[in-house]
Amino acid sequence: MKVLFLNGPNLNLLGQREPEVYGRTTLADIESNVRTRAKMLAVDVDFRQSNSEGELVSWIQQAKGACDVIVINAAAYTHTSVALRDAISAVGLPTIEIHLSNIHAREEFRHKSLIAAVCKGQISGFGANSYILALEASVSVKDK
Ligand code: DQA
Repeated sequence: MKVLFLNGPNLNLLGQREPEVYGRTTLADIESNVRTRAKMLAVDVDFRQSNSEGELVSWIQQAKGACDVIVINAAAYTHTSVALRDAISAVGLPTIEIHLSNIHAREEFRHKSLIAAVCKGQISGFGANSYILALEASVSVKDK
């Protein structure tokens, strides 16, 4: 089984970016933790980050036939991107939306996710552990 982790804009800055909101764990640390847990679960992981909406759309399209589940932290594009929503919907792979922070406890513009309705579910507010929870959810989502 293969899980594609996609990370959107500014997540390359994790660790230095607003640590009071996002913590001090870097994206490389998160990837390493995900890979450690994935080994235990016998899951293959592809882990990517892009600041470009179009690149994220292309990666979602290319996941068809190559991956079983997509886990996506679309970052700010969560709240703005019809293109990402349409790509997830078009590809039809089970997709899990994740966030480090609890988007529902923050500014009102973050309460709305344009991708939520085309995802299996949302994990939001558990910091770096949101990624591990999503990996674990991927295993059961895939079996359904
Ligand atoms: C985020 C929440 C988004 O609202 C924000 O734009 C991000 C990160 C999170 O992981 O908490 O960049 O997706």
